[in-house]
Amino acid sequence: MNPVRILLVDDETDTLQALKLGLEDEGYNILTSPSRNEALTITKNEELDIVITDLKLKDGSGLDLLGYLQEVHPQVPVIIMTAYGSIESTKVALRSGAYDYLAKPFSLADLKRIVAKLVEVIALRKENERLKLLLGRSTEAPVVIGSSPALKKILDLVEQVAPSRSTILLTGETGTGKEVIASAIHQSSPRADKPFVRINCGAIPENLLEAELFGYERGAFTGAMKQKPGKVELADRGTLFLDEIGELAPAMQVKLLRFIQSGEFERLGGNGALKTDVRIIAATNRNLQEQVEKGLFREDLYYRLNVITITLPPLRERPADIKLLAFYFMQKYNEINNKAIEKIDEEVLSQMMSYPWRGNVRELENMMERAVVLARGSELKMSHFPTLLAGMQGLDLTLGPMVGNSLAEIEKMAIEQTLRYCNHDKQKTAMTLQIGLATLYRKIKEYSLEE
Ligand SMILES: Nc1ncnc2c1ncn2[C@@H]1O[C@H](COP(=O)(O)OP(=O)(O)OP(=O)(O)O)[C@@H](O)[C@H]1O
Ligand SMILES: [Mg+2]
Repeated sequence: MNPVRILLVDDETDTLQALKLGLEDEGYNILTSPSRNEALTITKNEELDIVITDLKLKDGSGLDLLGYLQEVHPQVPVIIMTAYGSIESTKVALRSGAYDYLAKPFSLADLKRIVAKLVEVIALRKENERLKLLLGRSTEAPVVIGSSPALKKILDLVEQVAPSRSTILLTGETGTGKEVIASAIHQSSPRADKPFVRINCGAIPENLLEAELFGYERGAFTGAMKQKPGKVELADRGTLFLDEIGELAPAMQVKLLRFIQSGEFERLGGNGALKTDVRIIAATNRNLQEQVEKGLFREDLYYRLNVITITLPPLRERPADIKLLAFYFMQKYNEINNKAIEKIDEEVLSQMMSYPWRGNVRELENMMERAVVLARGSELKMSHFPTLLAGMQGLDLTLGPMVGNSLAEIEKMAIEQTLRYCNHDKQKTAMTLQIGLATLYRKIKEYSLEE
């Protein structure tokens, strides 16, 4: 294995230097950056194995960096350095998909230990990937659970459309399983042993998207220090999954249309068209037809994509799947957490049948994960499902999006909703949030939560 390459990001140059020296002692190859922007450029141009970033940077948050990496290089694990004692910020870091966190101040030994553990994981994963390649399959077939007539119809469609090269448009509310179905189509297709490449058109800034999709030549723009193939090339002979296609900016819509029509594309800064053979699956939770009518989405592109449309119904419209999925996720999180829960209380199951499931299958999965983690005995009871309980009382317990909000805003939301949930009983609220009563009063005042 080549030396492990690590990017360290921290705006305190002394800390940065000390950590760099310490890690270089272990034989790692270290790059450093004092800012978020510079770090973004580095991640675009360098092959990295690990990124270690401070949560708070002068020009932004380490979470932005994490978000970008998750979209573009999901295999690169990120360790976040957080302020000591801020449980909120560590939770935010982990929920956002960081591999681990280090609470400041930490010792060099702590850092080395975490990195060494991670290097082992990476080596194992590389070995696994090599084995999978030998076996000729790029990813494992996804598990699609459900027995409702609606889902069965969709699975039939998947079998029907998989062998062809036709473009497919997947629509449906958030969390209904669009990505699962896209991957199932790929796995049942003759392209199954070639890559399934996903690109999220909504999460990548417009100016970066073109470079991600079509690649670039060395010197195409400042910072393009080496040539990079685009996703359309990586997906050659496989499937390209264009997620959140409804978010695509007008200029990119034109370029994508051209690519779909001709199979040709140009790398940024390149001279001459290249060809690639991809099957396109697009997904959106927006109503594209409506976007077309409003002039936000090109009609010609819409018709190109909309050759075959598969619409995933919301979970509340296929109640027959709820129980199956609940047990499936119970088993999944039993295994992950080494638990042996066997039962779900009837009351829970019956409440689940009338719950609105605005987040669909994803919401059910999160709810089950939480319940499995919290439960002590061998049965899941109503008390493990505060959201269902709140649903019965007509409360909205869902927090807004975590990423994109400041920690203070997230904290404010959490306190506000816990207060409501506890009927403004301060003692209970403080206990639920696991903070002192005095702290709660201070925060209520700070955020002007009560008159
Ligand atoms: N039928 C299913 N069987 C098993 N797991 C499922 C099923 N449907 C969805 N899931 C799980 O639910 C979660 C959400 O699914 P997915 O990411 O495919 O939703 P989506 O429609 O792409 O949502 P979004 O529009 O928010 O991107 C995933 O963890 C997925 O594995
Ligand atoms: Mg999705």
